[in-house]
Amino acid sequence: MGRGKGHREARRAGALLIYWLDRRGQAHCAKPIDSSRVALSGRVTAARTQREPMKLFDVIQARQSIRAFQPKAVETDQLETILATVNQAPSAGNLQAYQVHVFREVKIRQALARAALRQEFLAQAPVVLVFCACPARAAKYGQRGEQLYCVQDATIAVAYAQLAATALGLATCWIGAFDEDAVSRALDLPAGQRPVGLLPVGYAAETPPRTTRRQLSDLVIDHP
Ligand SMILES: Cc1cc2nc3c(=O)[nH]c(=O)nc-3n(C[C@H](O)[C@H](O)[C@H](O)COP(=O)(O)O)c2cc1C
Repeated sequence: MGRGKGHREARRAGALLIYWLDRRGQAHCAKPIDSSRVALSGRVTAARTQREPMKLFDVIQARQSIRAFQPKAVETDQLETILATVNQAPSAGNLQAYQVHVFREVKIRQALARAALRQEFLAQAPVVLVFCACPARAAKYGQRGEQLYCVQDATIAVAYAQLAATALGLATCWIGAFDEDAVSRALDLPAGQRPVGLLPVGYAAETPPRTTRRQLSDLVIDHP
């Protein structure tokens, strides 16, 4: 790829990432990285050159919930790429009826961990993203927009963030078990925002066994 003006290159721990951000802060042509750093699972073991981007299906295979994090910061570039990826997620009517909050401060992370039924690993991660549904933004679709679409918008945004983080060699764990009021109070969230997912982001400090899945034959009912 030619590297014109504005292209940015980041090297970290053997990984090479080339991308540029447009005027709206959106990342283009993100090219992550050496999959040997990304494959937490052992499932993705194919030898790769450092410049070969990780394929989507490999990213999906590599993602797993991580509940222990190293005390190592997430670089601003990485966070920007994650957030720019989130911004590409589909949403009902393209209304993007959700808000993403980024928290780094340790006291806030600890408060979030308490509000999340004392899931202390949440505070270990250097960054926690909080995804909130914004019902008023989806009010155009009436009750369905306010009760469902905004939650779905926020939910798919979390999934995009998880995959983007994985592609960058970072780890996440979706936290859904929390006291909504306690989170809202701890973060002083505006009344119109409903927290639906907390996402600690950082470097993995564990390699847990893979979780299992239902058989496709059980999960899927094919109606030929
Ligand atoms: C909606 C939702 C809520 C979740 N809440 C929690 C949680 O509060 N704490 C936690 O440790 N994991 C939580 N998880 C992670 C799941 O436990 C995990 O995704 C599942 O066991 C599959 O494992 P994997 O992510 O490693 O593939 C949640 C996942 C989802 C999608």
